[in-house]
Amino acid sequence: TSPALTDAFARPITYLRLSVTDRCDFRCAYCMSEDTTFLPRRDVLSLEELDRLASAFIGLGVRKLRLTGGEPLMRRNMMSLVRALSRHLASGALDELTLTTNGSQLARHAAALAEHGVRRINVSLDSLDPARFVEITRRGDLAKVLEGIAAAKAAGLKIKINTVALKGFNEDELFDLVAWAGDAGHDLSFIEVMPLGDLPGQARRDQFWPLTDLRARLAERFTLEDLAETTGGPARYLRLRETGQKIGLITPLSHNFCEGCNRVRVSATGTLYPCLGQIGKVELRAPLRASEGNEPLLAAIRAGLSSKPRGHDFLYTDTATEGAVARPMNRTGG
Ligand code: GTP
Ligand code: 5AD
Ligand code: SF4
Repeated sequence: TSPALTDAFARPITYLRLSVTDRCDFRCAYCMSEDTTFLPRRDVLSLEELDRLASAFIGLGVRKLRLTGGEPLMRRNMMSLVRALSRHLASGALDELTLTTNGSQLARHAAALAEHGVRRINVSLDSLDPARFVEITRRGDLAKVLEGIAAAKAAGLKIKINTVALKGFNEDELFDLVAWAGDAGHDLSFIEVMPLGDLPGQARRDQFWPLTDLRARLAERFTLEDLAETTGGPARYLRLRETGQKIGLITPLSHNFCEGCNRVRVSATGTLYPCLGQIGKVELRAPLRASEGNEPLLAAIRAGLSSKPRGHDFLYTDTATEGAVARPMNRTGG
């Protein structure tokens, strides 16, 4: 097998997050503005090009591939891409092929995902209250998402729920979310909201709920055991001794995890973003299209990795937000 790619800080890069579309049927308030215009289709890579790109990274040592969006299941013929990429699971080149989804189209695709070697998916869900769900997603239907999650479970997929922790929004649902996930047998991770995308006024800073606080609240009801295991992503896990369930904490702000960063992102237009929290980028589409051979592409990927910064500069203070990045999450791939 090929030696893992490393960046300038000797971090092995083994995890690619590939966005397959910037489109989404939701408009989550912390992710994109309500009147988002999506990229023209001609700028978006074809399914064949996405496959070629992902396969080039796998050839360079990427072991984990996560397909993201926008909403990845909005991409037409998505299952043909998943099927094609599953050959890398069969060959042993890839350890994991997975997806982060809003769940709205999951009921339709769950069985096919399982069939193509996907074992585990992450579903975003910020509230179990139907009215709040609409408030945050602007157009989501909670019932459909819950149906999708149930279908995925029935298809044998392991499910991780991702909940963005939002002060004054879902704080009071902490124990309901924990109980629901526990009963259903889903892992649950909380994410600190990051200053990405449109930032009207102080919105993000005011919504920031540090997970150090969330953790302290959990400790009032449960005995917390820190777990050493990871799923290859940035979450750190703890177990609630009383229920046995696993809770993940993704804490870009309160506990920076950049030192152990193992991933890069590629957008649906073939832009490589070495870091979620910095504006630097390298275009891969032109080198991808320049030649049938992969040499120009591989050179561009290597250049991109060597430009990966040490980490983000996200910071909320009492009066300001620093290190914010204007690029919205749906263009970056989550
Ligand atoms: P697993 O560990 O495989 O479950 O996945 P993951 O946590 O890497 O993926 P997921 O899509 O569930 O990521 C959840 C969220 O964590 C992302 O949408 C981001 O908000 C955040 N996140 C993931 N990777 C990074 C990263 O490199 N930097 C920062 N700052 N946040 C990240
Ligand atoms: N901060 C933190 N998480 C975010 N997500 C989208 N935007 C942000 C943000 N600004 C999350 C979504 C989903 C994942 C793809 O990224 O809720 O779980
Ligand atoms: Fe990696 Fe950048 Fe995320 Fe830090 S902010 S973990 S360096 S991608």
